Amino acid sequence: MRAAILGLSEAYTSEVSEGLNELLASFQTYYQNLRGIHWNIKGKQFFELHVKFEELYTDATIKVDDIAERILTLGEIPLHTFEDYKQKSKVTVGKNVTKDEVAVQLIIDSLTSLLQLERQLLELSGEANDEGTNSLMSDLIAEQEKTVWMMASWLGE
Ligand SMILES: [Fe+2]
Repeated sequence: MRAAILGLSEAYTSEVSEGLNELLASFQTYYQNLRGIHWNIKGKQFFELHVKFEELYTDATIKVDDIAERILTLGEIPLHTFEDYKQKSKVTVGKNVTKDEVAVQLIIDSLTSLLQLERQLLELSGEANDEGTNSLMSDLIAEQEKTVWMMASWLGE
């Protein structure tokens, strides 16, 4: 019903929501990776990185909400349990990461996985003229690409 009101097909909203739920689950893993490195980071760069990782996870909570509410807008239900997140996430879990370079690489790897999912959703939503989802993906991609550049620069690459 929602699909018809929005001028989209049911088959499409169901398919794109499945992809958005995969992205949501992956984003939650990224968020938790950031919390982990915010807490566990050690070394001479502690003060700088502790704050930077907090900035990134605070931003990630806003993105998580945007993705979940896009799913609701399309008439579907966003995943909201750890169980589902674990099953659907495409982002690798970082555990006991204390070293600065490993932490920054974990961010880059997480973003690489998110960018792949977002590009798939960009294509799918573009073909369906679903501008709402399409522009959400564009914004996420542009911002994350910039973060990848900054993280790679920090690594000296
Ligand atoms: Fe904190």
